[in-house]
Amino acid sequence: MKLFIDSADPKDIAEFAATGLIDGVTTNPSLAAKTGLNFIDSLKDICATCAGPISAEVLATDAPGMIAEGERYARVAKNVAIKVPLTWDGLKACRALSNAGHMVNVTLCFSPVQAMMAAKAGATFISPFIGRLDDIGQDGMELIREIRAIYDNYDFKTQILAASIRHVTHVRDAALAGADVATIPPSVFRVLLNHPLTDKGLATFLEDAKRAGLKVREG
Ligand code: E4P
Repeated sequence: MKLFIDSADPKDIAEFAATGLIDGVTTNPSLAAKTGLNFIDSLKDICATCAGPISAEVLATDAPGMIAEGERYARVAKNVAIKVPLTWDGLKACRALSNAGHMVNVTLCFSPVQAMMAAKAGATFISPFIGRLDDIGQDGMELIREIRAIYDNYDFKTQILAASIRHVTHVRDAALAGADVATIPPSVFRVLLNHPLTDKGLATFLEDAKRAGLKVREG
């Protein structure tokens, strides 16, 4: 499964890109607003830091406006994926932008039929929002499983990008459900490796080595 960072903050992206484990980035208008930075400037920085797809979301709600904004983002860098909402206009824009050779991420997906329609419109990525479904008492992960089944039934190439991830268990379950990508907020990414037995085991190894005077390097 590919791992994207869900942030519009160039500092976050630089921090995680340094691990060599990041395959892309998703931003949205709320994340961009939180940074207080000029979004086009941030997008340039992020695209230069991470070679993978960088999602930038349109603000227009009509297809021609979305296409124009998408083309503007695409001029920033080759690795921009234009993010459009899952509306009729969003899917019209998706078809046009995809036909023009751009990557398109269709966002705000909450049902399997919405995901099927996005695939038919040529989406590169579909973004089902797991956490927001869980928040209202529905099963977000079941949506990933259903989309996986539909895409596999008809050999749709659209990648399932599990979004609105709240904790490490979401990452595990998205991988088990066959999501192609998980986009992970910085707070969750930082704790992906946490396990008390790893910390305890390492402490014991180092104590034992010290007691025995083991050395790897001379001098
Ligand atoms: C995905 O592309 C969105 O930016 C994001 O995952 C939304 O997550 P939220 O529900 O935590 O806002």
